[in-house]
Amino acid sequence: MSPHASSPDARLSEGPENLSPGMSQIPLNPEEILPYLPSQGIGSVLEILDEISSTNTYLLSLPRDQCPHGMVAAAENQTAGKGRHGRRWLAPPYRNLSFSIVLRPKTNPGGLVTLAAAYATVQALRGLSIPAAIKWPNDVVESKSGLKLGGILCEARQEKDTTLRMVLGIGLNVNLEIGDFPEEIRDQATSLHLLLGHPFDRSVLLVSLLQSFGSVWSSLEKDGGETLVRESRPLCATLGCNLRLDMHGHTLEGIAVDLDPKGRLVLRLPSGVHQIIEIGEIRKSTKVD
Ligand code: BTN
Repeated sequence: MSPHASSPDARLSEGPENLSPGMSQIPLNPEEILPYLPSQGIGSVLEILDEISSTNTYLLSLPRDQCPHGMVAAAENQTAGKGRHGRRWLAPPYRNLSFSIVLRPKTNPGGLVTLAAAYATVQALRGLSIPAAIKWPNDVVESKSGLKLGGILCEARQEKDTTLRMVLGIGLNVNLEIGDFPEEIRDQATSLHLLLGHPFDRSVLLVSLLQSFGSVWSSLEKDGGETLVRESRPLCATLGCNLRLDMHGHTLEGIAVDLDPKGRLVLRLPSGVHQIIEIGEIRKSTKVD
């Protein structure tokens, strides 16, 4: 998979000269985005909303004929942004990327969609020399510190004709400075601005992420996720860690030893038994030497 298709990435890696430190709240600019998006598939339709409750909720609620496969809704501000497990996703206006993509898969890819989004995001960020990694199942982190850079929330609904509408939401901390984070998560999260010392052009970054995801999605549709899973393993910071997982109220401990072909986590329990984990929340993670 080669997620970096064309010139926008080159503009990104040029560094801070296209944005000075005081300019971290520039609105998304369609003129910087649309010429670099494909006429079909991921990003072929783009809606930039000034304010919405949640881009996921918005795309789930649209009538079927108004949200084709690949349509993207990006919001400058979400008044009820959703995180996993019913949590709120908060971001000050104009500083982050908050967007969702409509997917109409031929067969239900299950958890591979979230893995595809995490992998595509990590690849796009690595293209900017940011050492990002996947924290299974839905986080993108800075690989050394483990600080969270972004999160993914995939939701789905059945259309009347029984086909599946998936809505893949991605939130990425772009131009947040330390004071923008709520105090209670300052030691758990970071942003591109904090890591690199200068703000980023969010329009260019959005193009890069959509191109990256477009490429990963094509690969997933072609081989059912074989390439995705193989290439995700070395980028998955969770593998090789001793985990404590919260599974609907009960706790499970073990070492994360692999991702299976469906993108699920393979956990080696203290008994030696391998257990496949479909969903769960990592409460504690320590690297095994
Ligand atoms: C998480 O880490 O808990 C997932 C966060 C997902 C946030 C994104 S922002 C765009 C989309 N719209 C939402 O309401 N949530 C997702």
